[in-house]
This record gives sequence, structure tokens and C-alpha cells, in this order.
Amino acid sequence: MLSTLLAPWLNNQAVKLTCCDKWHETEDTISIKLACIDENHLAKFKPGQFVNIGVNFDGKMEYRAYSLSSTPFDTDLQLTIKRVEGGRVSNFLIDQFQIGDSVMVLPPAGEFNSVDHPPQHNKALCISAGCGITPVYSMTTTWLNHNPHCDVHFLHIARSPAHTIFFNELEQLNREHERFSLSLLLKDKQQTSYPQGRLDQAWLETLVPDLHDRTVYLCGPTQFMEDVKDYLTHLDFDMSQFHAESFTPTADTQYAQRDTEQPQTVTLTVPSFNTAVAIESGSNIADVLEAQGVPLIIACRSGICGSCKCKATPNSTRSTSQATLTADEIEQGYILACSSQIISDSEISLG
Ligand code: FES
Repeated sequence: MLSTLLAPWLNNQAVKLTCCDKWHETEDTISIKLACIDENHLAKFKPGQFVNIGVNFDGKMEYRAYSLSSTPFDTDLQLTIKRVEGGRVSNFLIDQFQIGDSVMVLPPAGEFNSVDHPPQHNKALCISAGCGITPVYSMTTTWLNHNPHCDVHFLHIARSPAHTIFFNELEQLNREHERFSLSLLLKDKQQTSYPQGRLDQAWLETLVPDLHDRTVYLCGPTQFMEDVKDYLTHLDFDMSQFHAESFTPTADTQYAQRDTEQPQTVTLTVPSFNTAVAIESGSNIADVLEAQGVPLIIACRSGICGSCKCKATPNSTRSTSQATLTADEIEQGYILACSSQIISDSEISLG
């Protein structure tokens, strides 16, 4: 049951939550706790999901998506945030956001979670690199503390212990839980009790001999994820037991990316905001709307969170992701603006 404070989530609206704790995980990564729930009401989300956090810059709200690193059994929401070069919201939260300050928070969302995709045979393999640890850490602590049968192998890649988010917590889990095994691959050469080596197909099989009995949850940078997916495919892994998430924007979402075809001038209109602009075909629709001041929530920029859903003239756009749209919505002309390019004159409606 949601607390009164979180009731707007039922209507997909943002709630204002206040920071009650903040600390560094590594030099460039922090965790914050948002106090939102009294002890009788827990924040219901599925481990692995994320929330969109909104920060007001000069009267304009900017949203970005962050994975939750707490569990649904905690009374506060915990987010873990890494510094991003040029990342306005992330760097604001790291450098300026203080205990006692508030942000707007949209409801938890995301297909990459351990409730909709539980591990078959109660055996999970989490593979992560860098900040990709956040959602799989939430899944792991939920399994270990609330599922007495779940066995977790946790394979994480980082530069060094000092660069490993949740390093102490992972070591503690390793000491305290028989059903948890940790493989920590560190790029900096140093003394460590963990077997080291470059993660490739052979090393993956060596580190996780019962790989084929496990369900894989993968999160990290795009190239790393593609490599791991290749290793699993070559090992004849059952890919129905493979789940992955990356928040890296796809190349097609860059503003004004051009086609190999000759770009043409097309018109994008948003009647409800009296907006009409002439742009080149191939332009990213979210970027154009943002530049025109149309109040669309653009959070993950990866076609994952669904916050930028809007409706476009049929056949006037081309999309790289429709991940959060239903078949009915696609039929009706809904698109994800962050993952769509305009190809001919298009009228956009936000409702
Ligand atoms: S901003 Fe998340 S799907 Fe477009």
C-alpha cells in the first residue's frame, strides 16, 4: 500500500521527495536516500527498476532516469548516481543537492526487474560493470534477504576496490551468505583474493561452471554488454534466460543526426503549444521539442522509460525503440520521441 505522499504515482504523476541522507560510494559516485514513506508503507517497486528524477533549472524541469539501489522492503528510496561528463542533472545531484533538499520523482518503471523475470531454478547470475551494478545489487539484496532459496553468483568488473561501488557491502554479502558467490574482476593489477583475468568466453565458463543452470541479469556500458551477449550466444546459452539493460543513448538519438540520404526540410508542429518549426529530416524529435520549450519529460533518452511518449502523424517518423509502447498505442501513432527521427511533415500531440 502506498503512503498518501506517494498517491500521485497511481496517476503517473511526480511526487516531491526530500533527501534524508547522502554519501560517496566512490570518488565519482554518490548514493542519496529520499525519505518518502512512513514505516507502515513501503515504496512498492520491482528490484531492478528505475525512477525519473526531476530537477528545476531556471524554471524548467529536467528529468533523468536512475536505477534504485534499495529494496522494496526499505522505507526510503535509495539512488546511486555516477558523475557524467556534461550531465547536468547527475552533476547537480552530486555537487549541489544537499540533505533537506527536494526533487520531483516519477513512479518506478522498467522491464528489467526480478519480479517480471524471476530466476529459473532460483539460480541467478548478475553480470555488471561500473555503475551498471545498481539495479542488479537491488535484485541481489532482495533475493538474499527475502528468498531463502535463491542462489546468486555476482560477477562485477571495476578498476579497483576504491572504484567499486558497494565494495564493502559485496564483501559482507560474500562473508555472510552461503548462497552468494562473488567474482570481482579488477582492471588495476593488485593483490586481491579474487581470481583475476580478462572476461571472455572461456573465463566466463571457468568462473561460473554452472552457468547454464542460471538466469543472467546484465547491466553495464553498451560495448561490454554486447561482448557478454556474444560470449553467451557462442556458449549456446538459453537466451530466454537472459535479461539486460543499458541506459546508454543510442546514436540515433543525437540531435540533428543526418541520414545517408539527402536531408530535406520538413515541418514539425505542436498545435497545443502553438509551435511550428522547419527542421531537417533525420532530426531527433525529443531534441527538437526540447529546444522549442515543449514540456515533454525526457529522462532516459534510451527508449526505455516511456516518459517521452507522444503521438505523431502516421508514417512521419522512424523509431529505434518502441519498448514501452503497447501494440494498440503503436497502431494509434504513439512514438517515443527520444528514439524517433522525423522523416516528413509531422504533427505532434502530447496527450
Ligand atoms: S526519455 Fe525514456 S523513453 Fe524516451
